Amino acid sequence: MASSTKLFATVCLLALLSCSVQGQLSTTFYARSCKNVEQIVRSVVAQALKKEARMGASIVRLFFHDCFVQGCDASILLDAAPGIATEKNAFGNINSARGFEVIDAIKQQVERACKATVSCADILALAARDSVSLLGGPNWAMPLGRRDSRTANLGEANQLPAPFFSLSQLNASFAAKGLNFQDLTVLSGAHTVGSAICSAFKNRVWGGDSNIETSFALQSRQTCPTSGGDTQLSPLTIPNTNRFSNQFYKNLVARRGLLHSDQELFNGGFTDALVRKYSNDAKSFFNDFSVSMAKLGNIGVLTGRSGEVRLNCRKVN
Ligand code: HEM
Ligand SMILES: *[C@@H]1O[C@H](CO)[C@@H](O)[C@H](O)[C@H]1NC(C)=O
Repeated sequence: MASSTKLFATVCLLALLSCSVQGQLSTTFYARSCKNVEQIVRSVVAQALKKEARMGASIVRLFFHDCFVQGCDASILLDAAPGIATEKNAFGNINSARGFEVIDAIKQQVERACKATVSCADILALAARDSVSLLGGPNWAMPLGRRDSRTANLGEANQLPAPFFSLSQLNASFAAKGLNFQDLTVLSGAHTVGSAICSAFKNRVWGGDSNIETSFALQSRQTCPTSGGDTQLSPLTIPNTNRFSNQFYKNLVARRGLLHSDQELFNGGFTDALVRKYSNDAKSFFNDFSVSMAKLGNIGVLTGRSGEVRLNCRKVN
């Protein structure tokens, strides 16, 4: 491994280019083996978003939940099987994680073009990148070359950050993955799109939190009664456009974060200054978001001969 890394670094130097490498990933990984992969992924994602804009949000979240558990190895895509305790049953995923059919549809088309070549983990990374840019957010070159796990980890999936977390718990959860408080603050900006179920914010809007603007609390209660209605949806950011923007941060400054964990990012702590900055500067939000998404995509990746390229994203080969 060390010698192939050295060789790669040498080739990059010889090419007199910044090879835009993240760890051992490369933005040109499939340039020869599957040159149309990015085009295929983008067109299937575009079709899915035309049907339902929220699907873009769901795919971005799927990528986050993949990368935070065992690294970005498509472990979240595995269905239950002997020896596989599916991550789909984790607290943060059950009745919540969605977009699996879109990933299947992409995989099918990619397999038709390039047999047994492109990993499910890379497909998910590209689909997340394309979801962001097709929803009006930034676009960036996504480093590729991830391979797929042969295992899932339900126990670790059950430790994904939860909506009742404090700022220090959120910070610790990200730090454990090599991400800092800027990554935490800027990646949470993904909550500019998508929705949450009532049970994720009930306590906050019914008096559990004092740092909530009154009219927003009253409005949020309408889709989230004190008893029942647990699966009713509210947009994470209002107005609900499902378009990428810095509105999430503007809402936090106005104490209109829907989740307790979101409002923790602007509650007198060490992330306040960044929230304020992004609320005033959409461009720096977009720039920093791109950088942190690539960083998220680099967590615990399997490369080289580790793992496998799954033929069906839902099961190991
Ligand atoms: C910082 C800790 C985070 C917590 C506690 C958190 C929590 C949540 C919760 C509770 C929901 C609602 C899920 C549901 O009701 O079904 C949600 C949705 C979502 N999250 Fe996060 N999240 C966090 C970070 C992130 C990150 C880093 C990203 C992506 C980079 C992300 C992307 C999303 C998206 C796009 C949705 C909407 C999904 C949809 O509409 O299907 N979240 N999150
Ligand atoms: C936040 O996490 C960083 C590591 O990324 C750590 O050094 C720092 O002490 C944490 N800050 C707080 C206030 O918890």
